[in-house]
Amino acid sequence: PKICEDARVLHQRSPMAGIYDLTLSAPTIARSARPGQFVEVTVPHGGALLRRPLGIAETSAEEGAIRIIYRVVGRGTELLAAAGAGEMISVLGPLGHGFNVTYRHPLLVGGGMGLAPLLFFAAAHGSSSILMGGRTKAELFWEALFRPHVRAVHATTDDGSYGIEGFVTALLPKLLQEGDYDAVAVCGPPIMMERVAQMTASFSLPCEVSLERRMACGLGACLSCAVDTRSGRRKVCKDGPVFSAEEVYS
Ligand code: FES
Repeated sequence: PKICEDARVLHQRSPMAGIYDLTLSAPTIARSARPGQFVEVTVPHGGALLRRPLGIAETSAEEGAIRIIYRVVGRGTELLAAAGAGEMISVLGPLGHGFNVTYRHPLLVGGGMGLAPLLFFAAAHGSSSILMGGRTKAELFWEALFRPHVRAVHATTDDGSYGIEGFVTALLPKLLQEGDYDAVAVCGPPIMMERVAQMTASFSLPCEVSLERRMACGLGACLSCAVDTRSGRRKVCKDGPVFSAEEVYS
């Protein structure tokens, strides 16, 4: 069931330029949200047009809190980034269909802001491993966030400033060859997800992808987020954002 909650900002900080880490008090959503789901946040002072879909990066049922890590990409997120502790924000959620978290040892593969929903996965599962990619070492501030929740962290950077030099796909075949993973879950740039899905299929492992599309309503009512799948047109906001890779890539 989706709930509209008036959520209080508990704290907000910026782990790197242009990226914000926001914790909101939203006890009802915190209790029911599952990894891969998102919320629609109405930006303070932004009016009805500034409702933004943002992935949930972690929840704490005890504290009744949800965490959202996002990049400032326009006016809506700029206004959200300016919200300080104590401010009230309207949050609708949890929305969408999330990840299957029942695998024994899933390998999570993420790039850039795609790491946010995977953090929730890692925290909820407790025994996954993560392969993360970024352009530079600074972009991998995520490592410290994942560390307490995962068995192993593997990292790549485009410039070689941290981990293995190259994209996540430079390291993935070796990990799939040597590891005991029983599934892969991926979230990141479209080209990365498609390549990861292909590689995972060649190892005959199940793969789930979290797609990103522009969303107008976020509630399954407008079709602006439609995607072609094996079983016909589906809505990313309602049927996804998580799909099985074989549903969306031929
Ligand atoms: Fe409107 Fe998905 S955003 S149907």
